Amino acid sequence: MTEKFYVTTPIYYVNAEPHIGHAYTTIVADVLNRFYELCGAETYFLTGTDEHGDKIVAAAEKAGETPRQYVDRISRLFRDLWPKLRISNNDFIRTTHPHHQQVVQLILNKVKANGDIYFSEYEGLYCFGCERFYTERELVDGKCPDHQTEPTSIKEANYFFRMSRYQEWLIHHIREHPDFIRPERYRNEVLSFLRDPLEDLCISRPKSRLTWGIPLPFDDNFVTYVWFDALINYVSALGYPEGELFGNFWPVAQHIIAKDILKPHGIYWPCMLKSAGIDPYQHLNVHGYWQIKEGKMSKSLGNVVNPLDLVDIYALDAFRYFLLRDMVFGLDSEFSEEALVNRINADLANDLGNLVSRSVTMALKYFKGKLPEPGPATEQDDRLKGRAITAVDTYKTVMRELGFHKALRETWEVIGDVNRYIDTMAPWVLAKSDRDRLGTVMFHIFEVLKIVSVLIWPFMPESAEKIRDQIGLESKGGPIGLEQVRNWGSLPTVRPVSNAPALFPRIETKTHARGAVKMESPETTESQPEIIDFETFQRMDLRVGTVRKAESIPKSSKLVKLTVDIGEERTVVAGIAKHYAPEELEGKQVIIVANLKPVKLMGVESRGMVLAAEDDSGVHVLMPDAATLPGSKVR
Ligand code: MSP
Repeated sequence: MTEKFYVTTPIYYVNAEPHIGHAYTTIVADVLNRFYELCGAETYFLTGTDEHGDKIVAAAEKAGETPRQYVDRISRLFRDLWPKLRISNNDFIRTTHPHHQQVVQLILNKVKANGDIYFSEYEGLYCFGCERFYTERELVDGKCPDHQTEPTSIKEANYFFRMSRYQEWLIHHIREHPDFIRPERYRNEVLSFLRDPLEDLCISRPKSRLTWGIPLPFDDNFVTYVWFDALINYVSALGYPEGELFGNFWPVAQHIIAKDILKPHGIYWPCMLKSAGIDPYQHLNVHGYWQIKEGKMSKSLGNVVNPLDLVDIYALDAFRYFLLRDMVFGLDSEFSEEALVNRINADLANDLGNLVSRSVTMALKYFKGKLPEPGPATEQDDRLKGRAITAVDTYKTVMRELGFHKALRETWEVIGDVNRYIDTMAPWVLAKSDRDRLGTVMFHIFEVLKIVSVLIWPFMPESAEKIRDQIGLESKGGPIGLEQVRNWGSLPTVRPVSNAPALFPRIETKTHARGAVKMESPETTESQPEIIDFETFQRMDLRVGTVRKAESIPKSSKLVKLTVDIGEERTVVAGIAKHYAPEELEGKQVIIVANLKPVKLMGVESRGMVLAAEDDSGVHVLMPDAATLPGSKVR
């Protein structure tokens, strides 16, 4: 039977315009939805806007509009933003839809018929910002923890939902289903709320105070409290109670929210569902908060206040990648443009972009874009293949557990592996010596590229499709499944490989002299813009050397000891340990300044220096582009 998947975002209040927090949650839902599509699941993805309540009325007044005009306008901003972020939602619900209102009234009647709604006089501390009553215990220094304002004491007759009746059931349900609320820290938080007796939930507001809401079906003098109204969107959008969508998708419902609305989703909602005779949702997935330090935004541009504007500046896929790569789902994260630019340059332009462009260039140069059938595989080929297939499996597991950063890390490890495979196999050498072997190597590179293009698709749909276009995979007609691509060699390359502009152009920043070739040695010297004559240059003895042995130096995180063959054996200490593991360097060819005055570093005498280039993405050791006789002079 086909697997089913249903994902929701919170329905966003229309009292503010969309910002990065809304974008993050919705992108997460989109990534997850696309991932389940890759798994072959039948998916349904819901988002929308929450349009009732005091806050909305206040915001409308402030804007000089009627509530209706106001909600229509702001809701449209959300609806128009999602296609721009390539959000693939199936529906967009608004709580002002008549159908939603009917379902809210139906559920209220059911809950009432079940004896769970009663009328009572209540005096309590009310926060107008949160639109809810607070208990003394919940206040911090007598103030609302979210708004830092003192709540107002209000005495009102209202309707209450007997939530307390479901406390024991809920505790039991959470204990029996360890992944009902995840990650675990939020499950624990809910369980800890539930250690104290649950108070009943006030679910109405008198119409005398608020008219912008759904009238209670059993008392027209009251409207429904926002949370009771809003939470029901998750089932009303599926056509509850009779709708086919409801039957298909409700049993597999997964909500995505941030920690700010944990209590309504982790406590009110399951109790409401239980009372209405509806099964609980399957998972509540809770993430942390993006913090934005004022003044941190847009160092380079000076005019961006809304991080969403960065989408237009740096391209959508880079933005989506950054959000999912930098935040560990469940924890808070700090947003900075600088971090975004670093990711673009290092992970996207350098690792992935270069991999695609060098592979495509080679396929065009050596085989005019049509790769031959591969010959027998070597141990190294099999190792690369094994690594890529394992990555697909790990990816599948961690994505289901919301480990987006892990899934990307795993994918980037494979990208690193294939980049190293290319360096080691040196197709440019094979092109002159062994064309059969060259074909096999290129086949392996392209098989991994196919896998990478599938793994990144949920995160960066546009770039994934561009890569497929370049490597000749047919990308139209929906995504290529994970099982399909895991089946090594089974996906035909339909069109010849073709070249295209760089996928992720590097972002120039003012702070770095990008690409300047530096002498990367223990004492790094910045290149000076001084003009030297040829004789001065010639005084440097630059040589090609093969690294025979690379060892870390105890107690030094920066230095690595290299034994380099430059016709004779040399010990050279290089400050590259943070960028290269010793085993990565062994067998590589490097460029050495051979006549540098010896120097002792951490007890090791260094006789020479390794050349490397440095940019934002790190340090890159210079290597000849074809195997060269050790000791050859560099001119
Ligand atoms: N209308 C309610 C939700 C009702 S759902 C039945 C609401 N709306 S909201 O507009 O305030 O949206 C809150 C949600 O926006 C958070 O739970 C989160 O998904 C997202 N975010 C808003 N700011 C955020 C950050 N700074 N960081 C991450 N996400 C945050 O609450």
